[in-house]
Amino acid sequence: MKLRRPLVAGNWKMNGLKASVAEFTRIVEGCDGPLAAEVDLMVCPPATLLSAFVAAAAGSDVAIGGQDCHAKPCGAHTGDIAAEMLADAGARAVIVGHSERRCDHGETDAQVRAKAEAARRAGLVAIVCVGETRAEREAGQALDIVRGQLAGSVPDGATGAGLIVAYEPVWAIGTGLTPTNEDIAEVHAALRAALNARFGSEGEAIRLLYGGSVKAENAGEILAVPDVDGALCGGASLKAEAFLAIARSY
Ligand code: G3P
Repeated sequence: MKLRRPLVAGNWKMNGLKASVAEFTRIVEGCDGPLAAEVDLMVCPPATLLSAFVAAAAGSDVAIGGQDCHAKPCGAHTGDIAAEMLADAGARAVIVGHSERRCDHGETDAQVRAKAEAARRAGLVAIVCVGETRAEREAGQALDIVRGQLAGSVPDGATGAGLIVAYEPVWAIGTGLTPTNEDIAEVHAALRAALNARFGSEGEAIRLLYGGSVKAENAGEILAVPDVDGALCGGASLKAEAFLAIARSY
């Protein structure tokens, strides 16, 4: 038996209208017993569709997550969403520190860490994203960058039940480019070592996902890389057939 149960998660980003519930329902229908026995499935829709997806997933093995949360509890923060609101709507997890939030909204490691702490207070699993830019990789800094982001973004006291880390090289997101399997293995080994050093046996239980241009065609080899415990998919998660094909690569 695997030490960590595989997870294939879909990040729908700023995509999806009411009509998209039908496509998500096809994911739910495709998550049959044999698939659910092998792998956990999760979809993170935009906030406008969260409740509809929770309803569509009722009674299934597909979990629903948010894409971001505020670091503070409910209050005067126009346009933001508190972690407790996500939990109240039926989410079980929330992505924090996605590079699109770090780049577009200037989120720092400290802010990501505070969001992860808010997620924990609300009883949500925090999916903390880290990843280097193209320039950082070319400068040979990839490992230092992700180690630094991990140290700064992950709260103390993290557990395998409460935290997931996603390695998403910025240059691989939505580009069709992926690191070599050796490069993915190197980064995941570094992340695993850092988690183990900081959290001991709980670190060993924290799942490490790879994200960035995962599709049905490359999922099998990426998911077989040592220390890769699953995938965080963007574009490919918008279509049930593609998303399920990735999950079935296990
Ligand atoms: O969070 C998922 C992500 O950033 C990867 O996106 O479209 O390259 O699979 P994509």
